[in-house]
Amino acid sequence: MRVRVELTPDPGAPRARDWAGVAIDVLRATTTLTFARLHGARRVIPAVTIDEARALRRREPDALLCGERDGRRIEGFDLGNSPAEYRQERVEGRTLVFASTNGSVALRALAGCRPCWLGAFVSATALVEALCGRPRVRLVCAGKLGGFALEDAALAGWLALRLEERGARLEGSAARFVRPLAPRDAGEVRALVQGAEHGRYLRGLGPEYAADVEVCAGLDTLDRAFEA
Ligand code: MLT
Repeated sequence: MRVRVELTPDPGAPRARDWAGVAIDVLRATTTLTFARLHGARRVIPAVTIDEARALRRREPDALLCGERDGRRIEGFDLGNSPAEYRQERVEGRTLVFASTNGSVALRALAGCRPCWLGAFVSATALVEALCGRPRVRLVCAGKLGGFALEDAALAGWLALRLEERGARLEGSAARFVRPLAPRDAGEVRALVQGAEHGRYLRGLGPEYAADVEVCAGLDTLDRAFEA
């Protein structure tokens, strides 16, 4: 297996169908979408802009309009970006048009990759199992507004390390850079995610956002990983 890592979405990276993709936005998009899929959401359509999301919804009137800006639900949207909002009774069988600031960009950067997985600490070990046997894997960190996000790089490092233990070959400087960032256990995952810049920002927004950070900081709290 060949493993490539992007610290932020790289529009020039290979999009061939023979590459499996993992979109990583620990806080919060790909963690939230993991819970959405766990609770039966049928499909996720990523949108980069709010206007694009509204246009997609006009084409899919039964879809739920989901997304945030600055962490808060976008005015007029059905759902924001909190895992707590994506309950079964709300999302089961539904298509989600999803416009978050960074996570949606990472998902779009993986358009064409098959399969495309949701990367999150909550389902990390299950994701490694799901990736085993794949010849080529792109781990794409969403980052923050085009910049580096420690929590995403740490998860990419955690995944890269475990795939390497299973015989994978890490390609490129980014893969080698994230490897030592891999947290060693659940306690280190929690400390890293809680202490990350975006974790602190979200906790500053209020208790319900602080609760989201706590959920996103859980290691292997789910035993399944999900495709986008
Ligand atoms: C994003 O996609 O930028 C983040 O998930 C933002 C957030 O925490 O809502």
